Amino acid sequence: MNVIQETKQFIETIHASDSSGHDVAHVERVVRLVERLMENEPVNRTVLLLSAYLHDVEDHKLGRPKGLVKQHLSSIDITDEQANLVMAVIDEVSFSKGKTPTTRESEILQDADRLDAIGAIGIARTFQYAGSLGTPLDLAETSAVQHFQDKLLKLAGNMHTEKAKRLAMSRHTFMQQFLEQFHEEWDGIDT
Ligand code: ADP
Ligand code: NI
Repeated sequence: MNVIQETKQFIETIHASDSSGHDVAHVERVVRLVERLMENEPVNRTVLLLSAYLHDVEDHKLGRPKGLVKQHLSSIDITDEQANLVMAVIDEVSFSKGKTPTTRESEILQDADRLDAIGAIGIARTFQYAGSLGTPLDLAETSAVQHFQDKLLKLAGNMHTEKAKRLAMSRHTFMQQFLEQFHEEWDGIDT
């Protein structure tokens, strides 16, 4: 088994039974998006793919202990330098930390993770996340609907790669249409 396959198996146990929008399928979609975005890019593919598989293992919202990524990386056959690169890429990806990526690998992974937070899948994940917290479906400041204004509608304008910019544009338009219809139905003015 190669290091990518070993890492895939590792995250399948880590993300099993997640219902907050960080399930195994999210990680696999991000990996597939990374594969699409990294074509013709001068990147370290092994480092980027390992980072994609591991990017949500230590998400602070999910309450998992620190050190799981480092522990996994030291158990597979990669150099210390590669392991350090993977940890640096993961550290720069998070929206909430507000960091600006300093490598092409971080830019591509950030694009992929953010693409999966918008569009039809982004809408589904948002309401699933809110449901997992027990939040009512309303228009309060802490609601899923407000989360579109707070975060999701800002993502398309901040993509790094040309391919992600293109994909983000149609996902963004779809979310805007969804919100427009949502508010019309909410206000009883749809026709
Ligand atoms: P990731 O780290 O995978 O980019 P997040 O941890 O920020 O994503 O969030 C996971 C999913 O839950 C995303 O689709 C995100 O938009 C959604 N989400 C995050 N915070 C909220 C919130 N306060 N209300 C509704 N959805 C949220
Ligand atoms: Ni993610």
